[in-house]
Amino acid sequence: MNGGKEKIRRALGPWGAGLAVEALAETDSTNTRLKEWARAGKIAPPFLLTADCQTAGRGRLGRRFVSPAGTGLYMSLLVQPPEGAESGLITVLAAVAVCRALEGLTGLPMKIKWVNDIFFRGRKVCGILAERVEQGVIVGIGVNLKTPPGGFPPEAGAAGALDREIDRFQLAGAIAGRFLEALPRLPDPAVIADYRARMPLIGHTIRYTRGGVEKSALAVGVAEDGGLMIREDGEETVLRTGEVTLGSQSLSGLL
Ligand code: BTN
Repeated sequence: MNGGKEKIRRALGPWGAGLAVEALAETDSTNTRLKEWARAGKIAPPFLLTADCQTAGRGRLGRRFVSPAGTGLYMSLLVQPPEGAESGLITVLAAVAVCRALEGLTGLPMKIKWVNDIFFRGRKVCGILAERVEQGVIVGIGVNLKTPPGGFPPEAGAAGALDREIDRFQLAGAIAGRFLEALPRLPDPAVIADYRARMPLIGHTIRYTRGGVEKSALAVGVAEDGGLMIREDGEETVLRTGEVTLGSQSLSGLL
């Protein structure tokens, strides 16, 4: 076993039982790898893959996820969700697991911007990409541990880094452990409560896009399935996919 895998196992503790772990120096995308390996019958859930660097890291909504070597944690988990756990709840749990693991290792407070961007002091330090496959769900997590030399490209938007000494293998094990611990209990009221508590958008005006048209609405709450409840022209609806931005306040003021 290489040193990275050993550290991951140690941080996983009892939650690593039955979990296969692979740690690569470089790959195209940990999500794409798991998708292809699962499709080819090479792996089955639960499986954890980490990489030090991704040459074709993917973000939500078809975006690129900048993943240079030595600056981040890039990991994907292939899991079989329990009966009745909607896709939205897997995403909710992933965001909560990242926050709990980071807070456990650093003591720093983490916030969530709907759907599943993790913010620290106004900057996005982690993104999550969950994808359904025949064998279950692949949950891809990218954490910016250090600012890359030359900084983040403009396309990375509000991206920032934690810039603390964090061992990425230890963090990978801690995140996977928190996630696997709670997964069988979904839908878990404690997880959704933690998600809500970390969501400072509630009570503020947000912007979102529907049918190519940008709209603004008041964020009023988080539904039991993780959807964002909004009020617009006196009517309440729930957003289940997409992305929101803040209407008037800056991200750093709130997140
Ligand atoms: C986003 O913020 O848009 C989601 C980013 C998800 C990035 C992670 S890094 C590990 C996994 N592999 C990928 O190609 N993407 C996810």
